[in-house]
Amino acid sequence: MIDIHCHILPGVPGDDGSPDLDETMKMFELARADGIDTIICTPHGKQPAGDQIKRMDEIRAATEAKAAEFGIKLLRGLEYNLPQLFQVDSNGVGLAGTSFMLIDFVRSRMDSSVDAISRSTHSAGFHPICAHPERLFQSWEQVRHIYNTGYTMQLTAASIVGDFGHMCQRFSLALLDHGLCHYIASDAHSTSRAFRQTACKEFITEHYGEETANILFEENPKRLLANQMPLEIPVVSDDYDEDLPKNPLLRSLYRFFLRRHRDEDDED
Ligand SMILES: [Fe+2]
Repeated sequence: MIDIHCHILPGVPGDDGSPDLDETMKMFELARADGIDTIICTPHGKQPAGDQIKRMDEIRAATEAKAAEFGIKLLRGLEYNLPQLFQVDSNGVGLAGTSFMLIDFVRSRMDSSVDAISRSTHSAGFHPICAHPERLFQSWEQVRHIYNTGYTMQLTAASIVGDFGHMCQRFSLALLDHGLCHYIASDAHSTSRAFRQTACKEFITEHYGEETANILFEENPKRLLANQMPLEIPVVSDDYDEDLPKNPLLRSLYRFFLRRHRDEDDED
C-alpha cells in the first residue's frame, strides 16, 4: 500500500514526527508489517521555507537506504500548515512531485483560510487536499464548504477505526457515508501513533464494501502518484442526520437497510 501522509523522517526541523533514526527504523518495521511499501514523507512545513525544505530533502536522502532495507520507498512531500500558506507559488512542494498539495488547517483560522487557500493553490497550479477534516471540523456545513471549494479529502485511518474516540469516528463515518473521502492515510508520527491501514481497510471492506476499499487504498493513491484526480467513492447517504445511531454495529445495520431501500427505489 501507498501511504500519502506520514511523519516518519527523523528530526526534521519544525516537525513533530519521529525524533531520531532509531524511532524511524522502528516505524519502518511497523509500516512494512502493516502492508505499506511506499511512503510520501510529509513533515509539517510552511511556505516560503527554503532552508527547511532543503534540510528535509537532505534527511530524506540520508534515510532512503535504511527504508529500502525494509522494502519501503520514500517519496518527497510536505504537510503545509496554515495560515502560513497564503503565497503559494509554483515552487510549492506537491506530494511525490505531483500537483497535489496536502494542507492542514488551523481550526481557529479555518473560516478565513478556506477560500483564500483554495484560490491560491489552484492559481499556482496545485490541487489542495484537506488533511484529516474529521479531526478539525465537527460542523457539517464547514466540511461541505471545503469540498465545494475544490478540496479533496484525506481521512486518517486511526480516526476511522476509533483510536481518536467515538465522536471523531462518528464524524469520519458520516464523511464516508456522504462520499467526502478520497484518501486514507496513516498520519503516523511515532511507534505509539503508528499505522492502522490494514485494520482500516478491513473495516472499510466490511462496512462499505470492496469497491470503496479498493478506491481508497489502491486506486486513488496510485492515481495521485500518476498526478490524476481521485475517483469518488459510492455515496451511502444523501442527508446528514445528527441522530444516526452512535453504535458502529447499529450504524452498519442502518446503512444496510438504507442501501436496500435505495436498491428498491432504483428498481421502481
Ligand atoms: Fe500530519
